Amino acid sequence: MRKIEYNRIYNENCIDTMAIMQKESVDMVLTSPPYDDLRNYNSYDLPFEKIVTELFRIIKKGGIIIWVVGDKTENGSETGTSFKQALYFKEMGFNIHDTMIYYKNNPMPTTGNRYHQHFEYMFAFSKSAPKTFNPNTELTKYNGLANMKNRGKEGTLNYKKVERTKEKKVGNVFFYSIGGGISTKDKIAYKHPAIFPEKLAYDQIKTWTNEGDLIYDPFMGSGTTAKVAHLLNRKWIGSEISLEYTKIAKERLKEYVKQNLFTL
Ligand SMILES: C[S@@+](CC[C@H](N)C(=O)[O-])C[C@H]1O[C@@H](n2cnc3c(N)ncnc32)[C@H](O)[C@@H]1O
Repeated sequence: MRKIEYNRIYNENCIDTMAIMQKESVDMVLTSPPYDDLRNYNSYDLPFEKIVTELFRIIKKGGIIIWVVGDKTENGSETGTSFKQALYFKEMGFNIHDTMIYYKNNPMPTTGNRYHQHFEYMFAFSKSAPKTFNPNTELTKYNGLANMKNRGKEGTLNYKKVERTKEKKVGNVFFYSIGGGISTKDKIAYKHPAIFPEKLAYDQIKTWTNEGDLIYDPFMGSGTTAKVAHLLNRKWIGSEISLEYTKIAKERLKEYVKQNLFTL
């Protein structure tokens, strides 16, 4: 019987990794599945429904899944797969806690009669209410002491000084520049065709977890989630079905993860 180990990438189908993970053991799942190829990715069998069932089993109460997806356009229409997936997560007991947007400042330009595709979804699915929320903040436009007035009972105007907060939480559209040298400085990561930016992983991990928490990425690709989780002192586990990509992740991570932590 295999036992799950932290800080490892398992070169296998995520279904097999999750099978050895304890019930309600994971604080956060941060991942981006292979869009629209979920059932048959490079001829690997990928049962989406089974994956969601397993994710629900392994995630803690109050845990969160960040599911980064977009839709392909096929035969003149967007597939709508991302919506279908989101509704399936809800059917299986998750809350659709927040439909966040990953906005690309500089996407690949497209031709034809559609606007440029600037975003992907970052669905935040939670198992009950999220137990951790450390939001990104920005400075408020007006802060410091301000005069507030209100009318008293006799119609007189009263003034009082109130302290306005200096910071407020940001909106749920996160803006990122992407591409060579920007998504990551690790050149090797670009050997994978579909990485998400490290800053995205950083923002999401900081928001929904604390140091020492456990993060799982069932579709690890080039190792972005592992790298950022590791640098932020979180424990992590990854699955990646392709040996080629697992090797890329291993090579990329060896600079950051000093111990021999990989299962190949
Ligand atoms: C969109 S990529 C993830 C990229 C990653 N977020 C990054 O920044 O590098 C999806 C990955 O899922 C992997 N994959 C597909 N099916 C899988 C499965 N059943 N189990 C584990 N990995 C799988 C693919 O090989 C691919 O590398």
